[in-house]
Amino acid sequence: MQEINASIPFDKRLWQQDIRASKAHVAMLGAQAIIPVDDAAAISAGLDQVAAEFAANGVPVDLALEDIHMATESRLAELIGPGAGRLHTARSRNDQVATDFRLWVRDAIDEVDAGLAALQTVLLDRAEEQADSIMPGFTHLQTAQPVTLGHHLMAWFEMVTRDRSRFADARRRANLCPLGSAALAGTGFPIDRHAVAKALDFDGPTANSLDSVSDRDFALEYLTSAVQASLHLSRMAEEFVIWASQPFGFIALPDQWSTGSSIMPQKRNPDAAELVRGHAGRIMGCMTSLMVTMKGLPLAYSKDMQDDKPPVFEAHDLLGLCIAAMSGMIGSVTFRTDRMRGLANAGFATATDLADWLVREAGVPFREAHHITGKVVKLAEGKGVTLADLAVDDLTVVDARIDARVFDVLSIDASVASRKSYGGTAPSGVRDRIAEARARLETAPR
Ligand code: ARG
Repeated sequence: MQEINASIPFDKRLWQQDIRASKAHVAMLGAQAIIPVDDAAAISAGLDQVAAEFAANGVPVDLALEDIHMATESRLAELIGPGAGRLHTARSRNDQVATDFRLWVRDAIDEVDAGLAALQTVLLDRAEEQADSIMPGFTHLQTAQPVTLGHHLMAWFEMVTRDRSRFADARRRANLCPLGSAALAGTGFPIDRHAVAKALDFDGPTANSLDSVSDRDFALEYLTSAVQASLHLSRMAEEFVIWASQPFGFIALPDQWSTGSSIMPQKRNPDAAELVRGHAGRIMGCMTSLMVTMKGLPLAYSKDMQDDKPPVFEAHDLLGLCIAAMSGMIGSVTFRTDRMRGLANAGFATATDLADWLVREAGVPFREAHHITGKVVKLAEGKGVTLADLAVDDLTVVDARIDARVFDVLSIDASVASRKSYGGTAPSGVRDRIAEARARLETAPR
């Protein structure tokens, strides 16, 4: 029974939040004259001492004490005597754990947000540096149109922006205080839930005691936000794996972010990127785990809910690693821009520019222009040259409406420079977006 029942092996991680919430609670009990002020003061001082011990030596794991709430209270009693018993007036472990866990998730969100903001700064720096570097842009992983590497990195930046806003949103909804809901029905003691909420930096108390002790939406929203962020990190990691492969050769990972093979001396494996990709699966598993735990539970508290913590802790630890690893890799990778440029040149990536030119300069309907361009690509392919290397005579044979002015758009530089539509890949536009993003990051941190 003890082994299946106890949560102290994992919920000891809530000790700081547990003590913080208890201090707010006991201060309110004293202020409302629900317990003698002297006892309240003694309890508060005792809790500080417990906190100092836990900080110095860790939380002792004693299965007989079941969970962090009992462990804290029991140590408090050892330190200050029977007066400690007044701490649990007008509350239950049900509202206590709901409060502690909300406080923990709130801190976790702040930590993730700081990590994601740092990742964004790295992305902005690298994007600015690579605003003019041309690479092939892909659809279906086939060379499509030339883009700039800065533009590509800013696509990642946008993904992270949305991730941060999801966490911010989750935090806002989570930021109400369940303490004082007691076991499920509220309490007959004249407590001041607003004061406790304020002391714990919540926006206010929760409105329904049954809901308060049963709700784990805040943990689920943390997990769904974590899943979405980890999916984005996984997609970045996947591109790193592809880019680091020899056939692509777009990047060279520095020594500290690559690993060797135990038998093949030439290998420089992108293990960290692969693990970022792999961890996304585990984080998704954590989310699924808690969703399944919650889906059939009647109101109010059931012990199943004790299982809410391990998946959130696991997801948080994994996500922190993924953010740090991706930031580290992006910050230190060498972009092999000559190679990217060479492949952008080789892949007929400016075919669309030729079709667009026919539409613009020769009044050809787009569908027909597309067809003509297809013939030109075939011709270049046959000759083994790029579109820009074809002779003007080769082009006029395919269609008489083409003239030498077309060479202005057939180079990859001309192609990217022309894509000035808002949000497009033109270096000038990318620089504008980077400047805007930097200003946003500095002035509105979240
Ligand atoms: N350790 C428990 C949990 O994490 C605390 C709440 C226990 N409540 C109860 N009624 N047994 O869920």
